[in-house]
Amino acid sequence: MRLDKALANSGFGSRTEVKDFIRSGRVSLAGEILRDPAASISQEQASLLCLDGEILTVRRYLYYLLNKPAGLVTAMNSREANIGELLPVFFGQKKITPVGRLDKDTTGLLLLTNHGELQHRLLSPRYGIPRRYYVEVQVLDHPFNDADVEQVAIGVRLNDAELSRPANLAILSPTAAYLELREGKFHEVKRMMHALGKEVTKLHRESYGSVRLHEEVTGSLRALTEDEILSLLASVRLLDPLD
Ligand code: URA
Repeated sequence: MRLDKALANSGFGSRTEVKDFIRSGRVSLAGEILRDPAASISQEQASLLCLDGEILTVRRYLYYLLNKPAGLVTAMNSREANIGELLPVFFGQKKITPVGRLDKDTTGLLLLTNHGELQHRLLSPRYGIPRRYYVEVQVLDHPFNDADVEQVAIGVRLNDAELSRPANLAILSPTAAYLELREGKFHEVKRMMHALGKEVTKLHRESYGSVRLHEEVTGSLRALTEDEILSLLASVRLLDPLD
């Protein structure tokens, strides 16, 4: 594979940016500086590339986290304001798409990747990956109480045909709680809360599997760290470290 392509594919910048830093002598292979963006490198060599003396991990797929603001739909292209407006152009070229959806008014952690099998497994109920939400409600019937915790732990009837999977509710106040689900049915949190006599007024996802939000500013995007990528892959039994 061409050196510039390998680096651009691995998220180190656009093809033009990558060419610039190769030409300026910042990329080396086993101690030898590579200045030709078109240089051909093998998979084995790719694992020995350095940028400014630091070893690079050249990945086949790309993995990101967006701290989604309210007011945007989870779509890359839409008539409505959408998260695509916050993402660089190369996301479209590299087919990087969100893992599942958050509602327009929901904020928080949204994973994005072009690793199709990982997306599929993270969403599949078969793997039961936990998603943790902070939820605030308006009380229609009764404030959060122990009966709600028990009901959520057994499963909440969403309609005639659907029952939520057993989940965890941790009450913070009469109108606020953490809810951890291991599946992602359509509008699931809102429908669960409705069944428990409450209306959601704020919904924020704090984590998805082992990946959590820290101090990321609302609307900001960052690449996942190596540790985050490896633990997500391991959680769904995708173990190839360069996948
Ligand atoms: N459940 C919902 O109801 N909405 C979301 O955005 C996510 C989970």
